[in-house]
Amino acid sequence: MRTAVFSTKRYDREFLTAANRGAHDLHFLEARLDATTAVLAAGFDAVCAFVNDTLDAAVLAQLAGGGVRVIALRCAGFNNVDLAAAQQHGLAVVRVPAYSPYAVAEHTVGLILALNRNLHRAYNRVREGNFSLDGLLGFDLHGRTAGVIGTGKIGALVAKLLHGFGCEVLAMDPFQNPDCAVFAQYVPRDELLARADIVSLHCPLTPENTHLIDERALSLMKDGVMLINTSRGALIDTLAVIAALKSGKLGYLGLDVYEEEGDIFFEDLSSQIIRDDVFTRLLTFPNVLITGHQAFFTRNALEMIAATTMANLAEFEATGGCANRLGAVAKRN
Ligand code: NAI
Repeated sequence: MRTAVFSTKRYDREFLTAANRGAHDLHFLEARLDATTAVLAAGFDAVCAFVNDTLDAAVLAQLAGGGVRVIALRCAGFNNVDLAAAQQHGLAVVRVPAYSPYAVAEHTVGLILALNRNLHRAYNRVREGNFSLDGLLGFDLHGRTAGVIGTGKIGALVAKLLHGFGCEVLAMDPFQNPDCAVFAQYVPRDELLARADIVSLHCPLTPENTHLIDERALSLMKDGVMLINTSRGALIDTLAVIAALKSGKLGYLGLDVYEEEGDIFFEDLSSQIIRDDVFTRLLTFPNVLITGHQAFFTRNALEMIAATTMANLAEFEATGGCANRLGAVAKRN
């Protein structure tokens, strides 16, 4: 299939080309997909898109008008796709439902450990010849209470890993996962927020849970709580979180995602002025650790993403359908 691959980085080209084995005609485009770039897909059968590409009704209408029949997301989350509009335009949307939940779960625990033991600060200090321990005091994870919100593939693994550290793990999810119930106790969301020393978010972004962590949710939490979000930025009301950091309510914040990350992440902006004052305010706190949507970024995950994406395209080409087509699952999430 003639496929326009948007938001291409060097590693996308490398892994997708290897998995493709010449089966599809892949055209790699650096441009992010939005209303101004959708025209580039005219005449293609398929579009391959990533997390910060825009797939709203207007873009989907343009893609369908240009002859595109299938959108192959090379990611699990699909909050950036207007599925109703896709259906209306007869566009199939396929995704990679699972690639390496280990990659994201392990990165989550990495953020927890780094924040707790101030590894991000220690690294810089030691390089400058400063071996003082002042300000680096951490706490034992053993015996602490961790709360996992969303216990699908990734959340269940995070629960298991934190249980392995000796944490008491609380969980919240409208659908209880038996794999997670082995390591965690399911409780109502407000109880989780009130009891947890560490709260970690692992649910997809939906209209219902946008700003799940808002001023009210923060007010329920323990003083000095650690909040981790490796899921989707808009699960958190960033302004409320900044207020909680300033008041000391929030003791630690670890983010791999940010509400307005689309204009920032995945690019080298080190020679430019970042105009997002909310994001730059976050960067000023010593107890905030931000990574740029890299939790998925392991060799294993990229191989799996590429292989599944190519298999999705092949299945769609052969049958007009695909097991990883979004539809029923979208309603559940
Ligand atoms: P999954 O679909 O296996 O699990 C999501 C779980 O969240 C489901 O059990 C669902 O019932 C639950 N859920 C939905 N709404 C909820 C709510 N309001 N409160 C509590 N639970 C709720 O998804 P998976 O694979 O575990 O991924 C989770 C999220 O991680 C994805 O939706 C995506 O946003 C994010 N992600 C981030 C990556 C990164 O690189 N930072 C990479 C991959 C995924």
